[in-house]
Amino acid sequence: MKLTQEEQAMLDGKYGAGTALAMKIQVAIGEAYHADRMVPVSRTHVALSNQEADLWFVEKLVAGGAVCRVSPTVNPGFNLEYFQGITTIAPEDEAIIKRTREAYRKIGATLTYNCTPYLEKNVPRFGEITAYSESSATPFINSVYGARTNREAAQSALCAAVTGVAPLYGYLLEENRKGQILVEVEADIKSDFDYQLLGYVTPKKTGFKIPVFSGLPLQPKPESLMNLGAQLNTGGNVALYHIVGVTPEAKTLEAAFQGDKPPEVVTITNQDLKEMHDALTDEGGKIDFALFGCPHFTINQVATVANLVKGKKLAVPLWIMTSSLTTELARRMGYLEILQAAGGDLAQDTCMDQPCWHFLYGKKGVTDSPKCAYYTRRRDMSFVIRRLEESVEIALRGEC
Ligand code: F3S
Repeated sequence: MKLTQEEQAMLDGKYGAGTALAMKIQVAIGEAYHADRMVPVSRTHVALSNQEADLWFVEKLVAGGAVCRVSPTVNPGFNLEYFQGITTIAPEDEAIIKRTREAYRKIGATLTYNCTPYLEKNVPRFGEITAYSESSATPFINSVYGARTNREAAQSALCAAVTGVAPLYGYLLEENRKGQILVEVEADIKSDFDYQLLGYVTPKKTGFKIPVFSGLPLQPKPESLMNLGAQLNTGGNVALYHIVGVTPEAKTLEAAFQGDKPPEVVTITNQDLKEMHDALTDEGGKIDFALFGCPHFTINQVATVANLVKGKKLAVPLWIMTSSLTTELARRMGYLEILQAAGGDLAQDTCMDQPCWHFLYGKKGVTDSPKCAYYTRRRDMSFVIRRLEESVEIALRGEC
């Protein structure tokens, strides 16, 4: 790769061993993908996992004196103080979360602990070159905003944050953003939940190609698009999609395919969505808890739940994972009080794929998110998956 003087200086250790390591990794990635140079990034997001390998890497950079040139927002781990009040936290889990916080603070991250930074704190404009990790974030950045990011790992995104550049390859290049398969949606897509199922089922038919959706509503809510991207990138490996007439690089069908005809066409029907739902969800029956916010809920979603439980008592505990900003909004707007009075709560800064939920292992919950169910299988949690409104009704009854 051809490096600028400054990039070469980083590689040669002028800014310390941590920055040199970050640049060395990026050069290796660039060479692997035949990038000929680096490009500056204006935004970054690191999907910290609060797990040992992630911690090892960030501590190694910190020990080498690395400090971020482009401060990244970061994913949730879990809110230690909150969970100490409701369950026991193993000393090793407490130690990891504390060290993770400290390492990311030292490296200069913006400590948002939120997995929807594209809605709150880290919002790009069209065409911006960025480096985001996190499965719901990369499709939103690429597709909804028309900004550009590769499907970064937490580590490669952190390297970009430290060096301020990324290798020029993949989705950063115009020619690689062209649609590869037309998805004609014949299914009735009415709710945010329908977008969850559409996102999960699409890669089963399209593989990892860039899908171009036609036949979708022309005014989707941010929550719908958040759900679509999260599931496309969980059920498959899809960090860029287009919706004809909706997303900025797909004003027309022709534009989405950059002037070419769609090389392949698939159709998605109501029957496809039903079969996907049947395959994802656990059987009905008694449930032990309700868990929402994977990805983190917006204030509108919190309001929906609060309005459904207002003045009622939940049969099982209900948690909503969300950001600290949304939690504060919910407090100010009275939703938190309503939720708590019903027996629910907000768990800010927390991801469902964290050991703080160990008291739910082996139990059955209800959620609106296939992604939530997918990740928690390895933690021996099972889920009935339903539309949000129906999920809340089930939590009020304790069974479905
Ligand atoms: Fe967010 Fe964790 Fe789900 S990072 S999207 S709550 S897996």
